Amino acid sequence: MATTTSLSVSGFKLKLCLTLLACVIGVTSAQLSTYFYDKSCPGALATIKKAVKEAVKNESRMGASLLRLHFHDCFVQGCDASVLLDDTANFTGEKNSFPNANSLRGFEVIDNIKSKLEKMCKGIVSCADILAVAARDGVFELGGPKWDVPLGRRDSTTANLAESNSALPAPFFDLDELIKAFHDKNFTVKELVTLSGGHSIGLVRCRFFRTRIYNESDINPAFAEERRLECPFEGGDNNFSAFDSATPFKFDNSFYKNLLQQKGLVHSDQQLFTNNSTDNTTKDQVDRYSRDMGQFKKDFADAMLKMSKMTPLTGLAGEIRQNCRLVNPPST
Ligand code: HEM
Ligand SMILES: *[C@@H]1O[C@H](CO)[C@@H](O)[C@H](O)[C@H]1NC(C)=O
Ligand SMILES: *[C@@H]1O[C@H](CO)[C@@H](O)[C@H](O)[C@H]1NC(C)=O
Ligand SMILES: *[C@@H]1O[C@H](CO)[C@@H](O)[C@H](O)[C@H]1NC(C)=O
Ligand SMILES: *[C@@H]1O[C@H](CO)[C@@H](O)[C@H](O)[C@H]1NC(C)=O
Ligand SMILES: *[C@@H]1O[C@H](CO)[C@@H](O)[C@H](O)[C@H]1NC(C)=O
Ligand SMILES: *[C@@H]1O[C@H](CO)[C@@H](O)[C@H](O)[C@H]1NC(C)=O
Ligand SMILES: *[C@@H]1O[C@H](CO)[C@@H](O)[C@H](O)[C@H]1NC(C)=O
Ligand SMILES: *[C@@H]1O[C@H](CO)[C@@H](O)[C@H](O)[C@H]1NC(C)=O
Repeated sequence: MATTTSLSVSGFKLKLCLTLLACVIGVTSAQLSTYFYDKSCPGALATIKKAVKEAVKNESRMGASLLRLHFHDCFVQGCDASVLLDDTANFTGEKNSFPNANSLRGFEVIDNIKSKLEKMCKGIVSCADILAVAARDGVFELGGPKWDVPLGRRDSTTANLAESNSALPAPFFDLDELIKAFHDKNFTVKELVTLSGGHSIGLVRCRFFRTRIYNESDINPAFAEERRLECPFEGGDNNFSAFDSATPFKFDNSFYKNLLQQKGLVHSDQQLFTNNSTDNTTKDQVDRYSRDMGQFKKDFADAMLKMSKMTPLTGLAGEIRQNCRLVNPPST
């Protein structure tokens, strides 16, 4: 009985004809698997879950911050923990891109998990996998759905500041720009609407919704009035408001209910309901989710699973970072 496995090694493909016996001697498959750490680090998932639970208990917003960190990782050269790399004298990471600077958070939680896992099973669990699992656990802690995260991603030795600036969608985007940003990453219009439900949790700064609350017409007047108290016409750029004013830290479908009432806080979110240039497909989906929380949560889990599988490094590509903030030093 022979089986053929395709293994990607630093850019070239090896076609290996393996007997089942050969698999036992430890040839790594380039596929992600939910069982990846079952033998090599059996405590990994429980350790991440516990640390995320504690972090969210201390500060509910952290569940949202971890979700966003994974999203910003995956949309820029794939889910490879490139987003975690610090700038150094010799290295330019993604942390100072326009969408990320003074905005992304949760790095200490990831560091804390990584140091626990290094003690438990040194050099085994990648930062990219930690991020993917922590995002899932953060959503779950705030009442969201759970999905099985396939594992075995490896960490990049590179980052891409330019792509971080160009590939992540901006809050002033119209519907066609949102659709394009997601299409460029192989997501459908439907998945755009589903994943935007990530804004069911978390906070956004005044600078990103000022134009909307002072200048736009597809906004509930009482809602705009309230938000103006937190976001003056001038100054207060970094004042926060919740994306979902109904249930700021509960992962539910009130984000979509808000859109029906023109209470989307950023322009891009409200576009999904207001803009009918897709013959109402996004609008109808928002309407459906506002009435069917179960469907939203199921679709969200499916779309997050897809996101978590964006162009991972597997097999022998990349590395397992010792410190999530730094590329490993050259081996001695
Ligand atoms: C559809 C296009 C999207 C745009 C234009 C967008 C834009 C933004 C902006 C401007 C912020 C606030 C940043 C700040 O104030 O510093 C934010 C926060 C956030 N985003 Fe998005 N985002 C999008 C999609 C997503 C997706 C797909 C997810 C996850 C599935 C997500 C999850 C979050 C979360 C959870 C926060 C709050 C983070 C926190 O409170 O720490 N976003 N987003
Ligand atoms: C708890 O959350 C606060 C912010 O609300 C943060 O400053 C602090 O470092 C957190 N503590 C722990 C142990 O995570
Ligand atoms: C930068 O690179 C040089 C030489 O490659 C090395 O000696 C130095 O330690 C590096 N500095 C940092 C901050 O990584
Ligand atoms: C709808 O989207 C189109 C293309 O994305 C844009 O040109 C138009 O201004 C938007 N309309 C409204 C009402 O927001
Ligand atoms: C999107 O699909 C194209 C064509 O199949 C593929 O080359 C590309 O790597 C995919 N991009 C992502 C981010 O998955
Ligand atoms: C709102 O629109 C007016 C007129 O176009 C402009 O002068 C003003 O700067 C805008 N304000 C904001 C906050 O976008
Ligand atoms: C927002 O910012 C302004 C100006 O910095 C400040 O006066 C105000 O108290 C802030 N409002 C809130 C609700 O934080
Ligand atoms: C979009 O809405 C405008 C005004 O509400 C309407 O005139 C137009 O026919 C609608 N277009 C579509 C494709 O539904
Ligand atoms: C879109 O919805 C509006 C009402 O919300 C309706 O008047 C219009 O005919 C719809 N357009 C299409 C193409 O179904």
